[in-house]
Amino acid sequence: MALRNIVKLGDPILYKKSRVVDKFDEKLATLIDDMTETMYNGNGVGLAAVQVGILKRVIVIDVGDGLMELVNPEIIFEEGEQISQEGCLSLPNKWGNTKRPKKVQVKAQDRNGKWQIFTGEDLKAKAFCHEIDHLEGILFTSHLVEGETLHG
Ligand code: NI
Repeated sequence: MALRNIVKLGDPILYKKSRVVDKFDEKLATLIDDMTETMYNGNGVGLAAVQVGILKRVIVIDVGDGLMELVNPEIIFEEGEQISQEGCLSLPNKWGNTKRPKKVQVKAQDRNGKWQIFTGEDLKAKAFCHEIDHLEGILFTSHLVEGETLHG
């Protein structure tokens, strides 16, 4: 495993759409392992491949109850609403209150291509939404509640 550099705000890649993964090979496994190490090293709860400069639909999340690796993730259900502080490893030390669903269900493939269903509430729901947004080139700053500005 290796640490990778995290792309920061200002890099245009963060606004690009990531491509569907169709090869479940050793290169994908290495990317996932490196992303995991990079996320933990940065004390983040999630990371998308675009944040290490790779436009592939891959995210890793750990909100404190174990690592989740999601390839080609899609939100298939969402419910409710939450307003809470949100940040991003690509916007270091910047925070803002966002509005997100309270609960989401996500389908995704694992590193071998097997489909799984994940359910998340509260922080985990927010993490799913935040990381899947990255795959569309969307940052959490697009979800700030009305009147909110970033603070650090
Ligand atoms: Ni982020």
